[in-house]
Amino acid sequence: MSTTSKFLENVKTHQESKKDKTFEGSLEEYLHILEEDPAVAALAHKRLYKQILKEGLTVLDEADERCNRLFNGESVKIYEYFYNHFFGMERPLEKVMRFLHSAAMRGEESRQVLLLLGPVGAGKSALIEHIKKALEAANPIYVLQGCPIREEPLHLIPRSLRDEFTEMYGIQIEGDLCPVCRHRLINEFAGDYTKFPIAQSSFSIRGRKGIGVVPPMDPNTQDTSLLIGSEDISKLDIYPEDDPRALSLNGAFNVGNRGIVEFVEVFKNEIEFLHTMITATQEKNVPAPGKQAMIYFDGVILAHCNEAEWNKFKSEHTNEAILDRIVRVNIPYSLEFSQEVKIYKKLIKRSDYDYHLAPHTLEIAAMFAVLSRLKPSNKVDPLTKMKIYNGEEIVEKGLIKKVDIGDLREEVEDEGMTGISTRFVMKAIDAALADSTKNMITPISIRDALIKQVKEQIVNPEERKHCLQFLQKTLHEEYLSILEKEITKAFVTAYEEQAESLFNNYLDHAEAYVNNTKVKDRVTNEDMEPDERFLASIEEQIGIKGSAKNNFRADISSYMFAKLRRSEIIDWRSYGPLREAIESRLVASVKDISRIVTKSKSRDTKQKKKFNAMVQTLIDDYNYNEDSAEEVIKFASNNLWRDS
Ligand SMILES: Nc1ncnc2c1ncn2[C@@H]1O[C@H](COP(=O)(O)OP(=O)(O)OP(=O)(O)O)[C@@H](O)[C@H]1O
Ligand SMILES: [Mg+2]
Repeated sequence: MSTTSKFLENVKTHQESKKDKTFEGSLEEYLHILEEDPAVAALAHKRLYKQILKEGLTVLDEADERCNRLFNGESVKIYEYFYNHFFGMERPLEKVMRFLHSAAMRGEESRQVLLLLGPVGAGKSALIEHIKKALEAANPIYVLQGCPIREEPLHLIPRSLRDEFTEMYGIQIEGDLCPVCRHRLINEFAGDYTKFPIAQSSFSIRGRKGIGVVPPMDPNTQDTSLLIGSEDISKLDIYPEDDPRALSLNGAFNVGNRGIVEFVEVFKNEIEFLHTMITATQEKNVPAPGKQAMIYFDGVILAHCNEAEWNKFKSEHTNEAILDRIVRVNIPYSLEFSQEVKIYKKLIKRSDYDYHLAPHTLEIAAMFAVLSRLKPSNKVDPLTKMKIYNGEEIVEKGLIKKVDIGDLREEVEDEGMTGISTRFVMKAIDAALADSTKNMITPISIRDALIKQVKEQIVNPEERKHCLQFLQKTLHEEYLSILEKEITKAFVTAYEEQAESLFNNYLDHAEAYVNNTKVKDRVTNEDMEPDERFLASIEEQIGIKGSAKNNFRADISSYMFAKLRRSEIIDWRSYGPLREAIESRLVASVKDISRIVTKSKSRDTKQKKKFNAMVQTLIDDYNYNEDSAEEVIKFASNNLWRDS
């Protein structure tokens, strides 16, 4: 079968599946449906909340490593619907969902605007877009057939019957018929509301069905018809004055009824323009064009803007009425660089990406972005803070540095609301690629591209200085240390085994030393004294000398013992300080050979062989390609093992 015939089959099934769904019926049929499932008549906030929740919710607690390190073990809710789309945004997402939840229960929030506030490129628009998509995936709603605002059929039920209705169905009815349907009821069905036809309708962003968007308007062209529709001049000739059939109810609040109304960069608009927003929230009514009565409105109002606009708006007293109806959720940048990397990966995947990305490239870019976003701390330097925010253990002078992540967060306010944006980094990635002759990006080329871009685009001298310092010094050193370990790993054959064996030996000897016992030689089975020279050769790697060794050895022994008692598996990575010591020891063990071999000039045949094997390992096991391996090795040989 040709591709086209195959595809046309899909078209056919799609069309047929659409056909099945369209319902047309009477109030009677609708009541039967409600009897089965009262949720069908849910209001907008509830529908949206349920729809998002439907995808699943996981609560992480201290049993989860990341939760434990980053949130001090306080539980975190992970909403499946957002999980693979938004990264490092758990707390803001929780707040958004808390808003929807309260609103779904008809709390005060159902009469408030949700405002997402955050710096450029923090994902506000993307988040709202994703929320709107949830509605598109929702089941179709029941509407009065032909109603321009797709209103709830229960509006047909007269006031005098509503209490009884609520008692019998457990459903509260809010709102009354819109002018158009009221007119039709009287003129077409002689007031017999059981005759009014009911249809189904789904949500669509592009079709403007249940989802209305208000773009920021130039003050001169701001016209409330964008919000509430207008009187259609061409129809004014056909219908008598005040006939609702002359209304064009196509404003954002009409379109977004029962779904979502979104205000893009909301405070760029004049305050007068926003008054409709007040009545819509407070009274759940919006004005109708012309002389008609107010129209009931039920919808989620979402707005977003950046901090500068918000501060300006907030400072004006006349805006208090609106401020009082806003629930603000900050959407800061991610401060966890491993999550930031996931954002870049997501954005890269979207383009036609066919280049080589050397290991650590995105990591270095993400580290830079996060460093630029952090506020200075009195307790730790920026790089350390960045690592703690990434959930890493910090080892200093042979000890695990105890810094409480909560304390660091409390030290400052509103962190993540400034700094380098995701877009800035993505542009640098594009630039690095454009400059590459080998169709690849490496940590070295991304850093160069970022430096160039900082110099070109950041005008604030203080900010610029900081950014350059991070790129030229902090991350230069950090990358070298990452690279040194990686090249060592590629050099040392069976790195893992060697590390593991150093670890086991160290534990045996340290334990014997602490307990004043002998070590059994693993081969000869002979008893021997703990090997002081061996122990010291590991400890000196992390600067442990003299009497400090006693504590260090005792700490390790009890740490490992405690782990074993809890039946946890221990390996050479279990205890940060020892892991670092073992890594350094292995790095030191190949230092000389690294220095000689990476210099292309001085290689002899034997060294050449060793070099080639190392390059091959970098390619096979560490995701380099030939070009990127060559580039990083050259970089390492120029910067790491300078001939002393
Ligand atoms: N935490 C995040 N997780 C996933 N993607 C993100 C995140 N932050 C930003 N992005 C992505 O970055 C891009 C830019 O974000 P977006 O346009 O939504 O930002 P914005 O906050 O609306 O910025 P602006 O104020 O400039 O309009 C989007 O493609 C978005 O998906
Ligand atoms: Mg935006």
